[in-house]
Amino acid sequence: MQIESGVSLKPYNSFGLPAVAQTLVRVTSDACVREVVDHPVFGRAPKFILGGGSNIVLTRDMPQVVLKVEVPGRRLVEERPDAWIVEAGAGESWHDLVAWTLDQGLPGMENLALIPGTVGASPVQNIGAYGMELKDRFESLDGVDLVTGRSITLGPEICAFGYRDSVFKHSLANRVVITRVRFRLPRPWQPVLGYLELERKMAEERVSSPDARQIFDWICAIRRAKLPDPAVLGNAGSFFKNPVVTPEQCRDIIGRDPEIVHYPMPDGTMKLAAGWMIDACGWKGKTVGHAGVYEKQALVLVNRGGATGSEVMTLARAIQESVYGRFGIRLQPEPEIY
Ligand code: EPU
Repeated sequence: MQIESGVSLKPYNSFGLPAVAQTLVRVTSDACVREVVDHPVFGRAPKFILGGGSNIVLTRDMPQVVLKVEVPGRRLVEERPDAWIVEAGAGESWHDLVAWTLDQGLPGMENLALIPGTVGASPVQNIGAYGMELKDRFESLDGVDLVTGRSITLGPEICAFGYRDSVFKHSLANRVVITRVRFRLPRPWQPVLGYLELERKMAEERVSSPDARQIFDWICAIRRAKLPDPAVLGNAGSFFKNPVVTPEQCRDIIGRDPEIVHYPMPDGTMKLAAGWMIDACGWKGKTVGHAGVYEKQALVLVNRGGATGSEVMTLARAIQESVYGRFGIRLQPEPEIY
């Protein structure tokens, strides 16, 4: 087991925020997790599980034992008549996995291209984009229980996926280290279209039945055009969740703001575009201290260079207040605030 002390977490969070881990252990297998659980000092100490650090806002140093998940590996485990089952180590880059599946002739995850972060983090917040969520491609996952040290396999029912939500944000938070995830890619492949920006690309390029590679390329182009590359400008993707309201609340807001972008949900509720609301409050492109609101997508907060987590949170609270003042809606942060 490799134990490091006083490790700067700045390179390990996509926002590039300063924080120090008192103790950091790199986890490359289930056995590594068990070694930590059985360790005389660290076994009972509080733990913090760190994946790609792309969905976290660090506002202070970490006294917990940080488990940096680096489990490698990607393979096709099963070819069923109705699906391919692909397995990946939790430490693999999410985007590299999506690109690899396409290279292997295994389409089905192309709409989730270019989402930052690791495979192990993908079920935690049920990542989603362009009409697809992780839960639509999830088969099962393996992990190690941090209390018992036992390896476990969990299916979709226990994971309790919701909109950017799962059991790993609630009862199993920092309790299970996810080490491998299996994905179910349905056969025959069917494109997931219908998202406005994808429809626009199809019309522009006069392609009516795109293949998976074409969709992958479009998604990459769409994301690159409006989302900042964390390697260039620190950020954690969407900073707030899109709020879900009742149809009555939605009608009331439309009465006051007819332009508001909203989508009906399958259960009859309405999802409002938080980015639109923040933009409508005049925040796009604004900077407070070293933190700012991205100029091409108001839902994304960025580190303009040298920002601290508390500066980011000060900006976030100011945005929440102005959106509440105008729309009566309290925006909820999407990344984990530590
Ligand atoms: N809009 C504005 N101004 C803005 C931003 C957005 O008017 O500054 C409008 C857009 O024109 C559009 C609507 O708001 O009509 C929604 O915007 P967009 O399509 O960019 O999607 P989003 O709701 O802002 C969500 C996800 C993203 C995901 C995209 C595409 C959440 C919190 N965010 O963003 O996920 O990539 O849809 O599917 O659900 C993430 O979770 O980190 C993330 C980036």
